[in-house]
Amino acid sequence: MGRVFSGVKPTSDVPHLGNYIGAFRNFVATQDVHECLFCVVDLHAITVPPWDPKDLNRRTRRLAASFIAAGIDPSRSTLFVQSDVHHHTDLAWILTCISRMGELSRMTQYKDKSRGQDQQGVSVGLFSYPLLMAADILAYQANLVPIGDDQRQHLELTRDLAERFNREFGETFPVPDALIAEHGARIMALDDPTRKMDKSTEHPQGVIWMDDDEDTVRSKVSRAVTDSGRDVVYSRDKPAIANLLEMFSLLAGQSIPDLETRFTGKGYSDFKSALTDTIVEYLTPFQVRFAEVLEDTDQLDEILDQGAERAQRLASSTMKQVRESIGLRRP
Ligand code: AQP
Repeated sequence: MGRVFSGVKPTSDVPHLGNYIGAFRNFVATQDVHECLFCVVDLHAITVPPWDPKDLNRRTRRLAASFIAAGIDPSRSTLFVQSDVHHHTDLAWILTCISRMGELSRMTQYKDKSRGQDQQGVSVGLFSYPLLMAADILAYQANLVPIGDDQRQHLELTRDLAERFNREFGETFPVPDALIAEHGARIMALDDPTRKMDKSTEHPQGVIWMDDDEDTVRSKVSRAVTDSGRDVVYSRDKPAIANLLEMFSLLAGQSIPDLETRFTGKGYSDFKSALTDTIVEYLTPFQVRFAEVLEDTDQLDEILDQGAERAQRLASSTMKQVRESIGLRRP
């Protein structure tokens, strides 16, 4: 049994199906096997200013509720909000001082998110946020980090920093491994299979939100881009159908070859209609639980307070060791 840490940014009112398939589903499975910490990483949500303070506050609570609605059990896993535990930013500063401009400049997510913006105007937070992510993980001496494909490079940086710190100041951090699901780590947008489904999208038609109702899902799936031809087959040169098949397979628990057989000779319309039904089957229990959790604000606050207390205890023990080894006055 190892210790698992993973965080999600509150950058939308609810997560999307890609977050659910690539992250939440795996989190739920992980909590059966490991000691888990799951975090609403609100400080990461302010790296792309401006933000609306009311939105941030509301989205933080809604994301915490989403973790529970997706199946995270707060009596087994520690669920908390990043900004409630100051050790994340303390450790991020220390890691900032041992990291190099060159390694941060190579981060492709920074390049993607700052593309098209005046480089002089991009926030320093966006540039340095992989260091805050490294601190999130290392503060808890986590061994395993469930992530989607897009976070691979940031985890590599975290590993490099852990090794560098250990070399320079003595063994302190386990070097964490990524837990990347073999399938579903990169669900693509419905309107463009070359673009990842993401929360901060400017193309809402490409995203299935976890609170979409059946009519909305049906309309989005029916308008999803498909490839030429009408055969439901998984192939590299059919990225749109491959993406829909992958989603279908993961949600329905049916293999892709089985789905190909099931839809032989049936065409895209039948396939899309069955995919819609499967998605809605997943969204419905999530939506019911989500509404229940949000209704009981006192209980949600209590869960987050207790989570923060426990996280604080774990991180403060790491930070004691860190502060002592780098020579700060008070360990
Ligand atoms: N399209 C996706 N397919 C599979 N997994 C995905 N994840 C995100 N998009 C997909 C995984 O969901 C978790 C969310 O982490 P995050 O909110 O901290 O950051 P993110 O990866 O940047 O997520 P988004 O949805 O793309 O948000 P924005 O637009 O705000 O940046 C991670 O585990 C991620 O891998």
